[in-house]
Amino acid sequence: MIHHNTPIASSENGLVDLFARSISYLRLSLTDRCNLRCRYCVTEEEANGCLARLAHDELLSYEELLRVARVAVAMGITKVRLTGGEPLVRRNVMGFIRDLTRIKGLDDVRITTNGVLLERYGRELYEAGVTKVNISLDSFKPERVAAITGVDCFNQVWRGVETVLGLGFSPVKLNMVAMRHLNDDELADFALLSRRLPVQVRFIEFMPIGGSSRWNADTYIGTDEIMARIAALGELIPMEKERNDGPAKVYRLGADAVGTLGFISPISHHFCSRCNRLRLTSAGGLRSCLLHDQEIDLRAVLRDGFDDSALRQAMLTAIRNKPERHHLDEQRRSGSDCHGRMSRIGG
Ligand code: 5AD
Ligand code: SF4
Repeated sequence: MIHHNTPIASSENGLVDLFARSISYLRLSLTDRCNLRCRYCVTEEEANGCLARLAHDELLSYEELLRVARVAVAMGITKVRLTGGEPLVRRNVMGFIRDLTRIKGLDDVRITTNGVLLERYGRELYEAGVTKVNISLDSFKPERVAAITGVDCFNQVWRGVETVLGLGFSPVKLNMVAMRHLNDDELADFALLSRRLPVQVRFIEFMPIGGSSRWNADTYIGTDEIMARIAALGELIPMEKERNDGPAKVYRLGADAVGTLGFISPISHHFCSRCNRLRLTSAGGLRSCLLHDQEIDLRAVLRDGFDDSALRQAMLTAIRNKPERHHLDEQRRSGSDCHGRMSRIGG
């Protein structure tokens, strides 16, 4: 359903939504496939059996993705993040990324990856201009990483981390989903890593979404507790917020730390009021919120022969419908968790 109301964008200010948030960031999920089966992302059944996968023609093609990106950039999007599933498992992904980074006006293309293929693709990514990377890593213990992801991949991922650090990627962010009894005994090790390596270690609150059947009130650890436990290691010095820095609160653990710590609190301090993003699922669903299942079928607009103005209109509609905030807390209490899997929506 596309409403033809007054546009909310102005050319001077870029895209602005009804709650005065400027929308400058598009997340593109390139595939629903993944080479891992993280327990907080897929259900128990999915971890053990096979996952329902989109057919090839259900995925947006690279041409379609590039068209969306061009239109979005012309409208005021300045930053694109590639996600999945695992973006690097899609065939010929590097050719697509090179085309994407050539779009005029798009100077900030980043990638979120589980790191398994970074040793292999790091250099090509860097040369294509993708020099900012987020890597999911929930433990430094190989057997624990195997238990969490379903694959014995720690050493491979760590070589990926070393590869991107050696190439000069900056920032390199390590995403750690904090889970009580599963990896919270490693909070200190993660925090201390930021003292000696130029990484941003990000502690993410475990969200009860998608297949995360492991979620329960005990496993969840809020940012306040995580920070209190880390503050016991040394002084947490708040950093100036950089533009485009997203929802993390960033600190340095001690003045001489080489890297930083980020705290991401989707549950305890939801950052919806600062949310600047739109998301495109691998099947072409345009979402204005990770946590609201409302989607606009951009694939239909792309395939039904509409011109770019219809694409623009669809994006404006998504922005106009961007909810003020999510209601995970309320949904959680009422026991209704209806969200699509992270690997489909793209994190
Ligand atoms: N809660 C919090 N973070 C999650 N991620 C995936 N599922 C969840 C969840 N249930 C994060 C992973 C990954 C990113 C793509 O999304 O840490 O880095
Ligand atoms: Fe893990 Fe990300 Fe793959 Fe989900 S999409 S299984 S979180 S690596």
